[in-house]
Amino acid sequence: MTSYHNTFPASDLDDNSNKAIVINGKSILICNSGGDYYAIENMCTHQRAELEGGRIRNCFISCPLHGVRFNLETGKPMGQMTNIPLTTYPIKVSDDGIIQVEL
Ligand code: FES
Repeated sequence: MTSYHNTFPASDLDDNSNKAIVINGKSILICNSGGDYYAIENMCTHQRAELEGGRIRNCFISCPLHGVRFNLETGKPMGQMTNIPLTTYPIKVSDDGIIQVEL
């Protein structure tokens, strides 16, 4: 059964930044791109590097290891290095400003 999990205040995450958290034993990366929030698996589908710290621009995150760019909304990669999308998770901000992720 899936349910929304409280994470941390949205005000803690600056624009174009990301932060990894663990929910139910899974590492999930919460991202802020232009004030919109996204939740993705924190594991690149190319060679399994962590995506935390990757550069975010215009709804894409770049893997810190070899630079594959993934769409934060769909998880789809760009380019030739991998065609496996990231898992994405529903995300919302509660009335009191807490980011919540559905898992
Ligand atoms: S491990 Fe992410 S691009 Fe290679």
